[in-house]
Amino acid sequence: MERYPINLHEYEELAKKILPHNIWDYIEAGRGDEITLKRNNEIFNEVFLRPNKMVDISTIKLQTTILGEKTSFPLMIAPAGGHTFCDEEGELATIRAAKNEDVIAGVGTNSSFTIEDISNVTDKPLWFQIYHLTKEIDEMLIIRAEKSGYKVIVLTVDGPVPGMDHLRPKERDIRNAFVNPVNTERVNLIGEIAGMGYKKGDKEIQLGGLNPREQLLWEDIEWFKSITNLPIVIKGLQSSHDAKKAVSCGVDGIVVSNHGARGVDTLLPSLQSLPEVIEAVDGKCEVYLDGGIRRGADILKALAFGAKGVMIGRPFYWGLAVGGENGVIDVIKILKEELEQAMKYCGVTDVDNVDSNLLSYSFS
Ligand SMILES: Cc1cc2nc3c(=O)[nH]c(=O)nc-3n(C[C@H](O)[C@H](O)[C@H](O)COP(=O)(O)O)c2cc1C
Repeated sequence: MERYPINLHEYEELAKKILPHNIWDYIEAGRGDEITLKRNNEIFNEVFLRPNKMVDISTIKLQTTILGEKTSFPLMIAPAGGHTFCDEEGELATIRAAKNEDVIAGVGTNSSFTIEDISNVTDKPLWFQIYHLTKEIDEMLIIRAEKSGYKVIVLTVDGPVPGMDHLRPKERDIRNAFVNPVNTERVNLIGEIAGMGYKKGDKEIQLGGLNPREQLLWEDIEWFKSITNLPIVIKGLQSSHDAKKAVSCGVDGIVVSNHGARGVDTLLPSLQSLPEVIEAVDGKCEVYLDGGIRRGADILKALAFGAKGVMIGRPFYWGLAVGGENGVIDVIKILKEELEQAMKYCGVTDVDNVDSNLLSYSFS
């Protein structure tokens, strides 16, 4: 019998054995030579910890708030489509797991269950993620999310064409002649539900298939703010100049992210972008990080750089593949325990008070 994984690397290994090869590749792949994919994770190992000794660590505070919402620790589920690749219950299982562990979860437009059905399985905060399709579609999705009680709108801006696989799929997917299984259809965009004229089975609403409709420009943020009262988080920034623009547009949060290296290769590893974004933002909005986080110590490092929280993407697919909802719960628990362990050893007692002196690194 297969041994239960004890860390996220083992979850990855086991998920690879369980999932069909083409599904595994679709989830796991980065773009091009996968240099950024590799570096996203490796770079955490180039940051070393300088612990504080003889600190009273009898109480460790992992709980915090993210945009005013409580979470048991500063980890969020990154919004991503296609959880049904790994488990029939897909997003429903992931969101129940997030509820169980009391963490905030992102839900993608591309999910395989509707905005409404997903919100019905939890009373914990959900963030709703959109790509810009057209203003009409965006508004319709945002209104539905608002009505269903989502707390934040995440606008992903690192896909200059909606559906980043539109021009040229990732190479592993070309090699596998990958076609999305029908159970990963973007149900939120189907006509009967959304009134947009798409029909079940339309190629356009398969994952990765949406055609670009309108460009997204900085001046459009004003429009997004005018149609919703929910906080707006921009996902996919990597530079100080964009971070400054985001702040001047009045966004509430920024996710420093290179989309798990799925968009274009040789983008900066996301952790490497974090210091300049933190500096540029200068406390005017919250900053989060995703990309390559696989250990509790990685979370501690991101917090020490000044992130308010982190997101994970691929690891919850691994959890789903290995154990469905329980697998995702376990992935979250492992990261929580590892974070607490790392905090104790480093003499850090509060996730809201992690000093940058903890860090030793040489990248800039
Ligand atoms: C299979 C897959 C699908 C994704 N779909 C989306 C999506 O629909 N919207 C989005 O903003 N990000 C999407 N992402 C990116 C994640 O939100 C996140 O930025 C990334 O996975 C973080 O890197 P990590 O996988 O190394 O943790 C997807 C990632 C994966 C692996």
